[in-house]
Amino acid sequence: MSDKKGMERGLTNYGDAGFSMFLRKAFIKGLGLSDDALSRPIIGIANTFSGYNACHGNIPELIEAVKRGVMLAGGLPIEFPTISLHESFAHPTSMYLRNLMAMDTEEMIRAQPMDSVVLLGGCDKTVPAQLMGAASAGVPAIQLVTGPMLSSSHRGERVGACTDCRRFWAGYRAGDIDDQEISEVNDQLVPSVGTCGVMGTASTMALMVEAMGMMVPGGASAPAVLAERRRIAEQTGTEAVRIAAEKITPDLVMTPQAIENALRILLAIGGSTNAIIHITAMAGRLGIDIDLEAFDEMGRTTPVLVNLKPSGQHYMDDLHRAGGLPRIMSEIRPLLHLDVMTINGKSLGENLDEAPEWWPQDVVRSCDDPVFKEGGIAFLKGNLAPNGAIIKQSAASSELMSHTGRAVVFSSLEDLANRIDDPDLDVNADDILVLQNIGPKGAPGMPEAGLIPIPQKLARQGVKDMVRISDGRMSGTASGTIILHVSPEAAIGGPLALVQNGDTITLEVSTRMLTLNVENDELDRRAGEQKTFDIDRDITGYRRLFLENVLQAENGVDFSFSRPVLTRKSPNL
Ligand code: FES
Repeated sequence: MSDKKGMERGLTNYGDAGFSMFLRKAFIKGLGLSDDALSRPIIGIANTFSGYNACHGNIPELIEAVKRGVMLAGGLPIEFPTISLHESFAHPTSMYLRNLMAMDTEEMIRAQPMDSVVLLGGCDKTVPAQLMGAASAGVPAIQLVTGPMLSSSHRGERVGACTDCRRFWAGYRAGDIDDQEISEVNDQLVPSVGTCGVMGTASTMALMVEAMGMMVPGGASAPAVLAERRRIAEQTGTEAVRIAAEKITPDLVMTPQAIENALRILLAIGGSTNAIIHITAMAGRLGIDIDLEAFDEMGRTTPVLVNLKPSGQHYMDDLHRAGGLPRIMSEIRPLLHLDVMTINGKSLGENLDEAPEWWPQDVVRSCDDPVFKEGGIAFLKGNLAPNGAIIKQSAASSELMSHTGRAVVFSSLEDLANRIDDPDLDVNADDILVLQNIGPKGAPGMPEAGLIPIPQKLARQGVKDMVRISDGRMSGTASGTIILHVSPEAAIGGPLALVQNGDTITLEVSTRMLTLNVENDELDRRAGEQKTFDIDRDITGYRRLFLENVLQAENGVDFSFSRPVLTRKSPNL
């Protein structure tokens, strides 16, 4: 990190440093800033407010609170804009744009003078993108999230985005809900600003980043609209001034041990499958390799304790009232690295010692009475996924965890849309639905389409779940027996591309096996008939950059050029 401070950092090159500084100060004084203000430590605030992004709708108030905290501690806050990504306003999928946001964040931190930066995000891809960028930029950074939205009510039943969005839509598809009711529920699913109120990707990432030590203790779960969220923002601003003075760069906090703590929390909260990809990308920026087989071993000793949708019953505002992350970490304290440093200058163990006393609640269970006896996510291998695949076992149907079925194959999202509801589709309830070509390069951007809908004719017979397999992702708010992130992906010739209608596939979660029951000779023959992955000559710009450089799921779907040589491993069992 540069020895220069404040306004002197990262001068624009004019060949005369004195003139560069003279010009810089002249321009920023146009905003009414004094020499005294400009002599203070500068705290950048990455502002991801957007009129398209309700998950970030409270950012203006949070920025005011962060600024207050910065100024109370003697710093000068300066906000700057970066890309904002909302899940429903990011065509073709927000994952396609996550790396672009990471590049934007990284380069804007580098380009502008700041002694530390407050990363203000919340919606699914924003927090990973910000931490990927900040980790690469190497400037002291602290994360603040917008916080979860409140839960709501529909005809007396508690609802919230977005597990209930999918449940009601499935009911509408099955004919159980009419047009009037689906319209009514649409008004209630998102009752306030803030991130999805269940254990989706945003909540998962917030809890994992707090567990990793990059957020103030208790910072993950306070709802977006509460006064407490603003106090957390003020505290974050104050800490940002301290980490600037002490030069606490992300690599000093995001160590392999801290990453392991975050992975334990992912398992214990029954968190989103997307988080595996994001933490792999974030750790990869610091040369840390995530060992997914070791992660799976962690899962066998880490129970799911948090009773939140989609694995359980409650919502994020309940988790906050139950004590939030400190409550969860206290339950699995023996499984954590307690001596790691966190962003408030204390060790994780010290922070947990200061957490509030236990009180009765039914959202965070004890290890003796878990929601699910193993961790939420299992890592699968087999001839269908040589580099791995995952299943969120805590949100799957227990009767399908050991299952052999006939494959019903869809070659693309378009093929799926055209045929899934065809009354003549040859499909039975015990078949396995396979969707090809929705991986990082295939779709592109690895969309959250892995929750293949139950064919309408089966849904109307009452079928609620089937084994479904793809090289894509699934929303963290979704549930079902869904196998995701199959690698290598079909588009680059992975075995998933070789599956044909009528083949049988065996899923055996207890042994972590995913097997395509076809002889090797036949698979070799099919492989010989596959087309190679070519990028059309007409593709330019970011799409070309993406297609040429994006890595597979086990490498976090990051760009190859953004990852340094991987030098450390985590988990280090
Ligand atoms: Fe933003 Fe769910 S859509 S967190």
